Amino acid sequence: MSKYILSFDAGTTSSRAIVFDKKGSIIAVAQKEFQQIFPKPGWVEHDANEIWSTQIGVAAEAIVKAGITAADIAAIGITNQRETAVVWDRATSQPVYNAIVWQDRRTSDYCDELKKDGTAQIIKEKTGLVTDAYFSGTKLKWILDNVAGAREKAQKGELCFGTVDTWLLWKLTNGKSYVTDVSNASRTMIFNIHTLQWDEELLQKMDIPEAILPEVRSSSEVYGYTQHLLTSAEIPVAGIAGDQQAALFGQMCTQEGMVKNTYGTGCFMLMNTGTQPVASKNNLLTTIAWKINGKVHYALEGSVFIAGAVVQWLRDGLKVINKSSDVEALTATEPDNGGVYMVPAFTGLGAPYWNQHARGIIVGLTRGSSDGHIARAAVESIAYQTMDVLKAMEADAGITIKEVRVDGGATINDYLMQFQANLLNTAVVRPTITETTALGAAYLAGLAVGFWESIEDVQAYWKKEKFFEPYMKEDVRGMLQKEWKRAIKAAQVWSE
Ligand code: G3P
Repeated sequence: MSKYILSFDAGTTSSRAIVFDKKGSIIAVAQKEFQQIFPKPGWVEHDANEIWSTQIGVAAEAIVKAGITAADIAAIGITNQRETAVVWDRATSQPVYNAIVWQDRRTSDYCDELKKDGTAQIIKEKTGLVTDAYFSGTKLKWILDNVAGAREKAQKGELCFGTVDTWLLWKLTNGKSYVTDVSNASRTMIFNIHTLQWDEELLQKMDIPEAILPEVRSSSEVYGYTQHLLTSAEIPVAGIAGDQQAALFGQMCTQEGMVKNTYGTGCFMLMNTGTQPVASKNNLLTTIAWKINGKVHYALEGSVFIAGAVVQWLRDGLKVINKSSDVEALTATEPDNGGVYMVPAFTGLGAPYWNQHARGIIVGLTRGSSDGHIARAAVESIAYQTMDVLKAMEADAGITIKEVRVDGGATINDYLMQFQANLLNTAVVRPTITETTALGAAYLAGLAVGFWESIEDVQAYWKKEKFFEPYMKEDVRGMLQKEWKRAIKAAQVWSE
């Protein structure tokens, strides 16, 4: 029996591969960044071939680092940046255009039209989503509208559309499997989350031929086998989930009401709402968490577009730090934010504001404001944005959230985690393994091939590492919340 599971974590800025053992422990990690392409303000693209080459490269590297061979891998799980659209030629497997990334705003005006003509309401009912350029459907439409001959070819079934999971699966199986899972499909704005099918009415509205869409399957099953890659043995690819849903699973938030927040490029809070979709009244998304053993679980999601990316901006844009980890020391040079607030709406605002046109602002500057204050304002903005989302989630669910499980790069920052707990007035819990995205995909793949027997079997591997208890005084919290609201308002007024 093979002893390991290999996870592909295809993120927004890098490809990662992680080898896990039977106890869900990390045996080896390999990671490679790839190019971010910004052809125009607000546009973000990736080279899909580079996503593939870096992903397969890090897979080989992780296997070597683990001191094993590919034949020791029982299954591969894929998790991915979710709303990024790739279109390729079915015969040659060559992309017809760069991948258009979830952060890309080029279809904002088209989304405004959908809001004006009433389609947004239909989209919300059928897909659970707020109409926004964030999702992949309008990106696919843009490629069909703008790449010469694309729509005609698509109608003839000569092109394939996929999110990054589908693209990687296609490459791994040499075109034998053309599949996505329900969690990724639920981020396209053309998938009906109630019937679990591509929605004819929305496809017609956006002029997207169904022939270009992959088959939608569950999140944990064998989709296909690798073809002469890494080893002559055929390795089953057996788990697929969007990265935020995979993190929800890796955090073992498998019961209704459990909440996780992942601090990556953006910040994504998801609450498992069980087997029924809950329509949000507070501008959150209703999305599919996963489908396992024939059962669909749904989630409420608050998507914050800029979180860890604000620290990258301090490093690469403002150049006040040399490496991201230096930020904690810089924030510690000031005892508080000195009245400075930053709203990092670099690519508009996501939940709960959904303002496609908002842009970033820093307010409250005085002659005494320092780089330490700005760094604090930047880091604290991650916590404030999370607070807005948590409040919306509590209002939707009609409960007080007692605990948030956290993961992702920025959770290493103790100052941020404590500030987060204080602001939320909720306990923040960091697990021993914060690579929960990759872990979730590994669990989904391992469960499909009998590497693990049941969800209960893997539940035992989730362990708490640190617990952050809130201790901020109510009046201080109230004052900070009020100031933040003013800053958010200013960012929106600026965009008008
Ligand atoms: O919805 C976008 C999300 O899937 C991207 O995640 O971790 O690459 O920021 P991440």
